[in-house]
Amino acid sequence: MNYSWTEDYARRFLRSIPDEIIGRLLWETVRNGPVSNSHKEKADAMKAIVVYESLWGNTAAVARAIAEGLGSGAKALSTAEANTAALAGVDIIVAGAPVLGFSVPSDRMIQTIEAGKVRENVPPDTSQPSMRSWLDALAAGRGRSAAFETRIWWSPGGSTGGIERGLESKGYSPLAKPRRFIVKGKYGPLREGEIEKARAWGADLAQAMKV
Ligand SMILES: Cc1cc2nc3c(=O)[nH]c(=O)nc-3n(C[C@H](O)[C@H](O)[C@H](O)COP(=O)(O)O)c2cc1C
Repeated sequence: MNYSWTEDYARRFLRSIPDEIIGRLLWETVRNGPVSNSHKEKADAMKAIVVYESLWGNTAAVARAIAEGLGSGAKALSTAEANTAALAGVDIIVAGAPVLGFSVPSDRMIQTIEAGKVRENVPPDTSQPSMRSWLDALAAGRGRSAAFETRIWWSPGGSTGGIERGLESKGYSPLAKPRRFIVKGKYGPLREGEIEKARAWGADLAQAMKV
């Protein structure tokens, strides 16, 4: 038979590997499936939902960017859309809300905003349940979670503590440290670069899910 130099070299190399190591490699492959594709298959199979409450659109825009970063299977849904059916079989819930009155928004806070004065050209969207009541209604499950908030940079308080605790109490353990995304004024817009940061964070979360 006419072997090329590389074929001959490869055959000699394979013959030099002890039978015991070949046996172990074959056994690991049978037990775990092909090693090279397992990470990719796991990422493709992952169901990721980014849930947001957003009155003026800033948190919704961040949520959509996080979902983009998470990958093609991920969806951004409002607290009105993220019902039990939409969340069935979810592997990771990323949830975010604005900071309102130094805390995670409650229905009471939304009613106060509805009743009061708001910026004239952008009325608030108060059609979604508040993040607090969405967390209360969330059915128990099993998976991972991450929390984010949009806010002005200098404010005390925050939303992510309450969101993280709420998700964890329902069986979704934190995968990463919570993230803040900053707006320039009381109603936004987002600071330059925040959308890109959100997309990158989504990609980091997808990567962390594979480990
Ligand atoms: C009535 C009201 C109260 C707010 N309270 C806070 C606050 O306590 N801390 C903070 O950092 N930002 C506060 N903000 C700013 C919002 O968190 C910010 O605009 C947020 O991005 C709005 O998100 P949305 O556009 O998704 O609704 C407040 C804004 C409004 C209109």
